[in-house]
Amino acid sequence: MGGKVSWWRDAAIYQVYLRSFADGDGDGIGDIAGLESRLGYLRELGVDALWINPWYASPMNDGGYDVADYRAIDPSFGTLADAGRLIGAAHRFGLRIIVDLVPNHTSDRHPWFQQALRDGPGSPARERFHFRDETNNWQSRFGGPAWSQVEDSQWYLHLFDSSQPDLNWEHPEVRAEFRSILRFWLDRGVDGFRIDVAARLVKQAGLPDKRGRFDVVPTFADADEEPDKDRPEVHEIYRDWRLILGEYGPDRVFVGEIWVRDPDRFARYLRPDELHTAFNFEFLKCAWEAGAFRDVIDRTLATHAKVGAPPTWVLSNHDVTRHVTRYGRERSAFLKREHGVPTDLALGTRRARSAALLSMALPGGVYVYQGDELGLPEVFDLPDESREDPVFRRTGGLDLGRDGCRVPLPWGGDEPPFAFGEGGSWLPQPPEWRRLTAARQLGDTDSMLSLYRLALRIRRSEPALGDGEMRWLDGEPGVLAFERDPGFACVVNLTGHDVDLPEGTPLLASTRLDEAVAGRAKLPPDAAVWLRTPDRG
Ligand code: NOJ
Repeated sequence: MGGKVSWWRDAAIYQVYLRSFADGDGDGIGDIAGLESRLGYLRELGVDALWINPWYASPMNDGGYDVADYRAIDPSFGTLADAGRLIGAAHRFGLRIIVDLVPNHTSDRHPWFQQALRDGPGSPARERFHFRDETNNWQSRFGGPAWSQVEDSQWYLHLFDSSQPDLNWEHPEVRAEFRSILRFWLDRGVDGFRIDVAARLVKQAGLPDKRGRFDVVPTFADADEEPDKDRPEVHEIYRDWRLILGEYGPDRVFVGEIWVRDPDRFARYLRPDELHTAFNFEFLKCAWEAGAFRDVIDRTLATHAKVGAPPTWVLSNHDVTRHVTRYGRERSAFLKREHGVPTDLALGTRRARSAALLSMALPGGVYVYQGDELGLPEVFDLPDESREDPVFRRTGGLDLGRDGCRVPLPWGGDEPPFAFGEGGSWLPQPPEWRRLTAARQLGDTDSMLSLYRLALRIRRSEPALGDGEMRWLDGEPGVLAFERDPGFACVVNLTGHDVDLPEGTPLLASTRLDEAVAGRAKLPPDAAVWLRTPDRG
């Protein structure tokens, strides 16, 4: 890697879900002070940048994705001055900062929406949102109808919770406001933006009905061709924003949250004058199955090559079932959140270790969601009264929601809150997480944390890794094996039996390799290895 390309083309980016990362003031909620106190841990982990989930003033109906003031920090997290200090401190630690921009909707507490409520039907303030006298058949992504009624009987559109009214992106004031918000944070030194719901800002004129039936439990498999998704006009917005970013030099970036499956449509967001990168959700959703992985990887590489953008490799985030749990299930492809499904966590953990090595060896950038590096599983047995995700409420509990992947991190000690902070944790942590604390894993060379630290360190110093090319190696079905120049190979065994390794010296393996047999190690099922191969160059 060695600094030969723009940093974002092969960055390892760590996702900080701030409320659950570390609590600095003892109120049970993670905050900026907590994050600042753990910057050393993140530097030692070996990541290049942090993506921080929304930290703006918010009633927290959707964990901060309901923004009441885009230019203020929520008091539970700190102040604007704390944010400025954090950005400076992170930079001194060699970590870049990506903040989360939420342009599809505001909070219903945002002054614009409050004014729209006050000013009534037909007022200019209502035009910044989608107010109508009649609804269409759209469903909220969190379950239930996408429309709520206000006192004067008009309805407003919300693709998510009723407390998150959708903005009208045809309105010039909406466009001007977000240009100004971008500049506000760029002026404070942020290195980039993660764009929330990036494919849905623009709606089809007239808001026509959708076709088809709707599930109560939202899935991650909805069609691309929808009147509220992937409209061609959305690209104008990103072209406009890219120009603004460009004024701040070549090193500031956008990463889009784009749940669009069609490769050509997806690639359009990554044209050279639009977003720099986007999350690879096809990789995240992929089953633990060699053929499926190979297809996704090939499609990803071809899609990105067309527009010259670097791929990203994502295993988990704050919206999906943690992958230690997903990979421990018979049906490991991710289509929707499920609970009550038999899960083998030991198997899921072995596979998660291999998936980490796979994702870090592929060309492009890689994301680590906080807790991935500790091997945390999804938590299902939270008391209902502690659940905060609106998905739980809006689906009547059919979908338990996303709280189970947002449980505060275990840092140390033998009982909750495991040094998360001094005053408990906003969601209860399972007592068995005493085995998964960062402190304990640091002292164990076989731990998930030790694997991540070593892998990220090798990835950083290894010329073959990061941006660039890869070639598949021939091998038996069920084995993913590829090489990268100079002299590097990655092999993942998704068969049910031991397999032979290609020629080379192991650099790092997801499990102990038994080299006693005939001098050449075999790779056990669900394991992965990085090899130094004889240099053909
Ligand atoms: C996607 C975010 O990742 C998710 O957490 C949020 O609930 C929705 N967008 C709505 O903002």
